[in-house]
Amino acid sequence: MSPKNGKVKRIGILTGGGDCPGLNAVIRGVAKPAHDHGLSVVGILDGFEGLVEGKAVELYNKDVSGILAQGGTILGSSNKGDPFHWPEKNGGDIKIVNRSKECIRNYEGWGLDAIIAIGGDGTMHISKKLMDMGMNIVGVPKTIDNDLEATDQTFGHDSAVWVVSEAIDRLHTTASSHHRVMVIEVMGRYAGWIALNGGLAGGADIILLPEFPFSWDVIFEKVTQRNMRGKRFSIVCVSEGAKPIGGEMVIKAKDIKRTDPIQLGGIGEVVAKRISEGCDLETRYTVLGHLQRGGSPTPYDRILSTKFGTSAIELVIKKKFGRMVALKGSDIVSVRIEDAISKQKLVKPNVQAILAANAVGVSFGTEKL
Ligand code: F6P
Repeated sequence: MSPKNGKVKRIGILTGGGDCPGLNAVIRGVAKPAHDHGLSVVGILDGFEGLVEGKAVELYNKDVSGILAQGGTILGSSNKGDPFHWPEKNGGDIKIVNRSKECIRNYEGWGLDAIIAIGGDGTMHISKKLMDMGMNIVGVPKTIDNDLEATDQTFGHDSAVWVVSEAIDRLHTTASSHHRVMVIEVMGRYAGWIALNGGLAGGADIILLPEFPFSWDVIFEKVTQRNMRGKRFSIVCVSEGAKPIGGEMVIKAKDIKRTDPIQLGGIGEVVAKRISEGCDLETRYTVLGHLQRGGSPTPYDRILSTKFGTSAIELVIKKKFGRMVALKGSDIVSVRIEDAISKQKLVKPNVQAILAANAVGVSFGTEKL
């Protein structure tokens, strides 16, 4: 499946996994230069689902014009379309089947020389397996969670952090008026980057992360001390994956059709209730949910997405397949897709944001980090 006549002439592009702001900016960043180089571009619909089921459209310049600031993805996305783990209805049951051969058939049928796959760790894992079957793929790292080790930042993260920071600003004013403890639950799965960066930007008093199980007593003491010092409100920013010492993450639902069957959610309510009981204070909780994934990308994400998209198409033109674009410092580099998926990026106690938060008195619900 190497490009005919040695040259790349026709590429596919897909967006996989949960959506995030900046996907359209990447699509535009890929398609515009591709057209300028005389390549034709096929937009594969709904992530790998489209590759399995043969759903795609031709993407022309007019289709990618005016989408830089548009949230979501014009191609659609899905976190249930893993070709190697495809859920098929079998009477009342769900049977898992492998439909990867159909991906190869469609790839060849559409006359593709390569695919640019925009997605998070799930998308990169699937891409690696399809590459092993002979497909040419270049990856672009996306996720609001920012949990890919191979890149300093994924696009979408900055936009999610902006939403969290804005929400905490709003909670501050009402928390202070009513002398309440406000708990805000944010996304991030098993990594605490959204809670850490969003909480730091919003000035949260307590930030609870999946990486560092918390102690109820430390939280109670922090809130009580603030009250005693005349600060009669507190803001707690809790990551959906956070858990107490000796406890478990709060799981909202399980769905075997998803790439990651576990849907987290509910820790915010638990934390608010326990603080109310433990400190005899009025608490409220807010679950920010998909607001963090919706809407227009921040300028930072628009720029990063454009740099990623344009670098990805350059790699394709140079036939540097099997690579994922990545941010290292202020440079866009590329790494092998298999290296990109080998390690999840989690918050470590010595990262600058933790040190800065510690220095301004933020509690992580632990004795010491
Ligand atoms: O990975 C991105 C993310 O938004 C996570 O932060 C969150 O746990 C998950 O996706 C939610 O997925 P869904 O949209 O399927 O509920």
